[in-house]
Amino acid sequence: MDTIPKTASASTNSSTDQRNGQTWDTEAYAINGRFVANLASDVVALLAAQAGEHILDLGCGDGVLTEQLAATGAVLTGVDNSSTMLAAARRRNLHVEQHNATALPYHQQFDAVFSNAALHWITGLSGHNSALAGVYRSLRSGGRFVAEMGGHGNIAAIRTALQATLAPFQIDAEAASASFFPSPTLYRRLLETTGFTVQSIELIPRPTPLPTGMESWLNTFRNGVLNRLNVANRATALANTIALLEPMLRDADGNWMADYVRLRFHATK
Ligand code: BEZ
Repeated sequence: MDTIPKTASASTNSSTDQRNGQTWDTEAYAINGRFVANLASDVVALLAAQAGEHILDLGCGDGVLTEQLAATGAVLTGVDNSSTMLAAARRRNLHVEQHNATALPYHQQFDAVFSNAALHWITGLSGHNSALAGVYRSLRSGGRFVAEMGGHGNIAAIRTALQATLAPFQIDAEAASASFFPSPTLYRRLLETTGFTVQSIELIPRPTPLPTGMESWLNTFRNGVLNRLNVANRATALANTIALLEPMLRDADGNWMADYVRLRFHATK
């Protein structure tokens, strides 16, 4: 799922991204992040994997979707940069390889490249240009790149709340998180500059229920920035963020909904 440099942390089921400090714990992710794969049916349908096709799953994480795609009879290769996520994927008997998304080593060997909820972890325009060049190189002529990622305006309320609660601690939450949530116009330009023909690209607001709540979401997906604080300040910042978000994102029955916006596209080589 994450696609930028990692080092193994003290725990055997977590690894940490050096650029944004984000830690991926496979057990916590299975509990608090499983909805990410569960909500991928539209991008999976857009891919329309066929038996016998060779497909690269870029940012495969623990392999839940890779396994689902392989069940079509397609031949899957999963790529991620988190060693612990890849270990979880291997326990599903998947073929996976550890690479940085900005340095893919493949040449014209895939019919399709697929990616769900991974590309927004790649930092900056130069990272995306490198990643897209690698995807393009990986595809045979006529091959397709089908992906979904966070798009412009993604988790706007959550990001604004984090900016507000972390500013008193001299932390710029946006800069520290280093997420990339492009508009369709920008990402079309990047795809076309790489050489792709864009068949479709759209921004899709998708309010997303958080089955384990906002605190778990923040601890799972924004631990990189929160862990810059000491224990006491972290607890204060977490409580303040949740208090700011509650009127907007928690309903009368106590259910949390995150303000996700997806960018979904289909491009061909
Ligand atoms: C997303 O899938 O849009 C996302 C997930 C975690 C953090 C930020 C964005």
